Amino acid sequence: MFKKKKGLILSLTVASSILLAAGCSNSTSGTDSGKDKGDALPAVGATIYKFDDNFMSYVRRAMDTAAKDKVKLMLNDSQNDQAKQIEQVDTLIAKGAKSLAINLVDPKAAQTIVDKAKAKNIPVIFFNKEPDATVLTGYDKAYYVGTTSSESGVLQGELIAKAWEANKDKYDKNKDGKLQYVLLKGEPGHPDAEARTKFAIDTVKEKGIQVEELAMDTAMWDAMKATEKMDAWIAKYNDKIEFVIANNDGMALGAIASLEKAGYFSGDKFMPVVGVDAIPEALEMIESGKMVGSILNDAKNQGKATIDLAANAANGKDVLDGTEWKLDDKKAVRVPYIEVTKDNIQVGRDAYK
Ligand code: GAL
Ligand code: CA
Repeated sequence: MFKKKKGLILSLTVASSILLAAGCSNSTSGTDSGKDKGDALPAVGATIYKFDDNFMSYVRRAMDTAAKDKVKLMLNDSQNDQAKQIEQVDTLIAKGAKSLAINLVDPKAAQTIVDKAKAKNIPVIFFNKEPDATVLTGYDKAYYVGTTSSESGVLQGELIAKAWEANKDKYDKNKDGKLQYVLLKGEPGHPDAEARTKFAIDTVKEKGIQVEELAMDTAMWDAMKATEKMDAWIAKYNDKIEFVIANNDGMALGAIASLEKAGYFSGDKFMPVVGVDAIPEALEMIESGKMVGSILNDAKNQGKATIDLAANAANGKDVLDGTEWKLDDKKAVRVPYIEVTKDNIQVGRDAYK
């Protein structure tokens, strides 16, 4: 019996070192930072839903920086594949991860991951994609690091309303007093995408501005998909469109590429565009006047908080030990959003330094 078990452990070790070697030769499947001192440092197993996501690449960078000399970070690219992510979690546990930092592919998969971690008494810090509250309450070692999703929608709505009021003569092209918009939505079912869509529009209306939705569709947070959508909308609605509202900057940038092709932003052909994230590429657009503004989604602090909590958990400490973070009643650390326009562009720059 004992022998058998030992054999199993041994073959698992062999299997995981093969996996580790495979991981190293394949740049998309994972990186291990803190390799040199790796053995002395506790291991944190992490997944990003896909490396090929503009905003998440900044979160990832912040995690790498925060992990340095603190934990051995085993970071995986889940390539937008939930089944793959579950396998990665199994492998990370087999490799001896002392805590997990999980950016879900599908927010609904949180319970499956908690079940696996709970069976081994391993703490889990979810980040960026908020799981259902019941998943966190069901496991004392589960936490969330992210934002209050609705806040980004409210701030974006306020930004839209202010810009509209200040430029109505120019923006209200058909002079009907209503704001005709198209909206590029993030991944359907993603708490950020749902809340931004709802609260941005609700807030504009609450400010007493009448709106008319010409079109709304998902472009899955993605610039190229957003360009395709925007091409089709320009072909269909042309200058009936008075505002482009995007759930994130990636899609706002994609829309701008399409608008530029259609002759916008030269001469007096203009289109107000807003996004969320305030990534460096968007800050450039704000600077050059091609974007009205964005809402800073603080990648640096979310990445740092994720590692701070995961490192404490890996060391068997209270997750907040020695940090400045606070948990709300949902066991979540929520980093605030900030409106960014040309007037305070430095706020965005500092956040991505
Ligand atoms: C959002 C962010 C998007 C995208 C998404 C991925 O918070 O604004 O750009 O990265 O997370 O889950
Ligand atoms: Ca109008």
